[in-house]
Amino acid sequence: MRKPIIAGNWKMYKTFDEAVEFVEAVQDKIPSNDRVDAVVCAPALYLPILVQIQTESELAIGAQNMHFENEGAFTGEVSPSQLASVGVDYVVLGHSERREMFNETDEAVNKKVRAALNHSIVPIICCGETLEEREAGQTTAKVSGQIRAALEGFTAEEVTHMVIAYEPIWAIGTGKTATADDANETCGAIRAVVNELYGNDVAEAIRIQYGGSVKPENIVELLSKEHIDGALVGGASLQPESYLKLLEAG
Ligand code: G3P
Repeated sequence: MRKPIIAGNWKMYKTFDEAVEFVEAVQDKIPSNDRVDAVVCAPALYLPILVQIQTESELAIGAQNMHFENEGAFTGEVSPSQLASVGVDYVVLGHSERREMFNETDEAVNKKVRAALNHSIVPIICCGETLEEREAGQTTAKVSGQIRAALEGFTAEEVTHMVIAYEPIWAIGTGKTATADDANETCGAIRAVVNELYGNDVAEAIRIQYGGSVKPENIVELLSKEHIDGALVGGASLQPESYLKLLEAG
């Protein structure tokens, strides 16, 4: 039985005050992490203060991206050691917005996953197909390729510490959700890749989230599916009430 993981991805939304107010509003209402892992992935600028103010709760704080190098002349970047030094627990890697708008490659994602594990930060590895790829019947090939590339060079033990997020690009921020059955089918295909590479125990242990227009109204059905172990949520994670409802489904 895999524990659900519900992660909000705030993207480039919220002022500092709004971010602090959110955490103050939800932190004493977070369900026990015996039942569900609750995460918010905030803009990098706010991470240290959010980590500091939520120490009494079971809310985990995540980043939305990082460089794979620990230090160096990389103007504007944030490193894994910097994230670890402020107590960040998770990092979203390979989100389609980063792949599409910031030219993030499979190779870079793989290096970032390595860097995250080196700093005991849990990587949430994103994959997903475009609408054109879906219509051409290439969904499984696309996400399988992304996951094979991201996992290259890792041991079975390391893979059990990772989270995968399947986010069809056409469902992100569009209000169009994949049907629960379609999402489950693709999450199942991802699990089959993990099974092929690392065996059944690892495939049964790794958690696979669905992301793309998840909201309180559809999360229960999505989570009822065999291969969907949580959600990576953009828009519906921005308001405390909505975020808490998502957690209730976990
Ligand atoms: O990472 C979460 C995201 O890409 C999905 O966004 O707004 O469709 O829930 P949204």
